Amino acid sequence: MRIGVLTGGGDCPGLNAVIRAIVQRAIRGHQWQVAGIRHGWRGLLVDEVEPLDLSKISGILPRGGTILGTSRTNPLREPDGVARIHAAMKTHGLDALIVIGGEDTLGAASELARGGLKLVGVPKTIDNDVNGTDVTFGFDTALSTATEAIDRLHTTAESHDRVMVVEVMGRHAGWIALHSGIAGGADMMLLPEFPVPLREVCDVVRRRKERGKSFSIIVVAEGANLTDGAVEQKKPEDARRDGFGHVRLGGIGAWLAERIEDETGFETRYTILGHIQRGGTPTAFDRVLGSRFGVAAVDLVARKGFGRMVALRGTQIVDIPLEEAVGSLKTVGPELYETARVFFS
Ligand code: F6P
Repeated sequence: MRIGVLTGGGDCPGLNAVIRAIVQRAIRGHQWQVAGIRHGWRGLLVDEVEPLDLSKISGILPRGGTILGTSRTNPLREPDGVARIHAAMKTHGLDALIVIGGEDTLGAASELARGGLKLVGVPKTIDNDVNGTDVTFGFDTALSTATEAIDRLHTTAESHDRVMVVEVMGRHAGWIALHSGIAGGADMMLLPEFPVPLREVCDVVRRRKERGKSFSIIVVAEGANLTDGAVEQKKPEDARRDGFGHVRLGGIGAWLAERIEDETGFETRYTILGHIQRGGTPTAFDRVLGSRFGVAAVDLVARKGFGRMVALRGTQIVDIPLEEAVGSLKTVGPELYETARVFFS
């Protein structure tokens, strides 16, 4: 038996833990061979496939990124993409594929599995928005990074009596904004799921001033919107898009900081955390979750559970149909948002 493994979409801390676990479980547990596919789906389309043995995974557990490289190539949009993927599987003697990705990569995987490709999925993304799993690996590391940044911004905000706007990642889901805002003691969090008017943000800052608090921290997810300010933001038709048609985000923090300063007269600065949240060494939690997912994915292949994805439910690793994971995104619900609102100033 020979299996292939690929990592697609945005990278995240913990990918190497999954790759390491897959290789160890496949080679030592099942006596299979493993091939590493470079740069996500692209590696199968342009024939970038190489053997992955125990020596290649030595020492990678604490390393961020992915030793396989990644891309946002969408095989379903490439000319003869599906046929080329099947041909590459045959050429390299691959009996099955383990696909590690977020909504887009797994979406393509689900479609390809429906067409007969033997594959299983592993959910990853710092955004934590893949359906069907309680958590994706990468989220915990990004959250820790964002929380530390908010802690640091607190001290300088207080020293200078400033409003600080902190922009975090989160295209459609505000998990990082919500959790880092609670953990970092922010005064308000703006999420894609719950648009608010600019007035509400300015009221928070003003109320704090009235209560004698000289500074405020506002966390905003990159995909957040304001009910009364959306038109002024970057227009989608002007923006760059990736292979899955997503607009490249980033910048709402700067826009918001300017508006807050104009409206309230309080000095306001912004920080965009950007890819710092995706880089660096994974937390212990992400290493453990990634390792468990990797082992479970190999065992799922052994059971011929094709078209399925490993997932965390409570404390257990389970597997679910890929279709269940990719139809829609896991977003922040009203109940959790209401809890977060308790801490809005
Ligand atoms: O992987 C998810 C994510 O980190 C989003 O939060 C963000 O919008 C996007 O990736 C950025 O992707 P890229 O690095 O391709 O610009």
